[in-house]
Amino acid sequence: SVEEMEARVREIKEKLGKKLFIPGHHYQKDEVIQFADATGDSLKLAQLSQENRDAEYIVFCGVHFMAETADILTTENQKVFLPDMRAGCSMADMADIYQTERAWSKLVEIFGDTIIPLTYVNSTAAIKSFVGQHGGATVTSSNAENMVQWAFGQKERLLFLPDQHLGRNTAYNLGVGLDEMAVWNPIKDELEYEGPVENIKVILWKGHCSVHENFTIANVEAVRRDYPDMTVIVHPECSREVVAVSDMAGSTSYIINAIEQAEAGSSWAIGTEMNLVNRIIQQHPDKHIISLNPHMCPCLTMNRIDLPHLTWSLERIEQGEEHNIIKVDEKTATFAKLALDRMLELA
Ligand code: 13P
Ligand code: SF4
Repeated sequence: SVEEMEARVREIKEKLGKKLFIPGHHYQKDEVIQFADATGDSLKLAQLSQENRDAEYIVFCGVHFMAETADILTTENQKVFLPDMRAGCSMADMADIYQTERAWSKLVEIFGDTIIPLTYVNSTAAIKSFVGQHGGATVTSSNAENMVQWAFGQKERLLFLPDQHLGRNTAYNLGVGLDEMAVWNPIKDELEYEGPVENIKVILWKGHCSVHENFTIANVEAVRRDYPDMTVIVHPECSREVVAVSDMAGSTSYIINAIEQAEAGSSWAIGTEMNLVNRIIQQHPDKHIISLNPHMCPCLTMNRIDLPHLTWSLERIEQGEEHNIIKVDEKTATFAKLALDRMLELA
């Protein structure tokens, strides 16, 4: 039963004490978040994993790329576990290393040494490693503007992997014109751009988040019609068009802070993952808050981490069994860490 599982989790947490660390991403279910030692967005969780040197067992409640990042940033004797190996990320899966190598060699053919790669942390360790090896860095949604600015300090143009929307929204905010952005299509292995290639400043990988893609202009229009006083706030993984008609856009932590600082009685439509929106609604009974998309938008892979998987994972650790360990090979980890460190130094 739920009660039995909760009691087991509590018992094991108490028994392992500081040896166990459970980071939980804001998109995780309440049944899991209640047991998290720390909650955060992807940047905060990366930093916390790095700072925590006591934990021998890090049971990562989030998705696969986050657990990989935690492994890269922690020491040899710290083990990272993912309670369900199927907790991947469809966006991270949209850029594989072979596609990236092919893209890079074509882009270098076109642009020579004028280009630097950046990758959203929502990507595999192999992609982070590739980026680190080629002088680039990782970014998260909360530092993307700083990192894009940093990249322009290094080279004339950049390749942004794997989320075209975060890349486009960020570059646009920094004054790069939409006509200066091209799209790299990894399925066709070709650059989508009309005009002379010298004008290109940003090359956006054609990937997206299947959760944030579900927020549409029609959703914003419906809110404007039904609740004219409502503030629309969205995550920059939403499309440029949706961000353009919204009132505010920013990372997970930006959205949480905006609502926390808002006046009682204010009303909000939020365009981000469902578990987080529901939690914000519960935490702010003094405000009127709805999901921008009335059908809500769950992240199915985040939701694979649930109470039964968390319990199972902790029981295996209690038994001394090695299971669901996320281990990035040493060579990949070394270069991926270079890309992460370039970001963390600036963050
Ligand atoms: P942040 O936590 O960096 O806002 O990223 C959102 C996300 O999609 C995580 O998978
Ligand atoms: Fe990936 Fe989007 Fe889910 Fe985040 S919300 S884990 S980017 S699919």
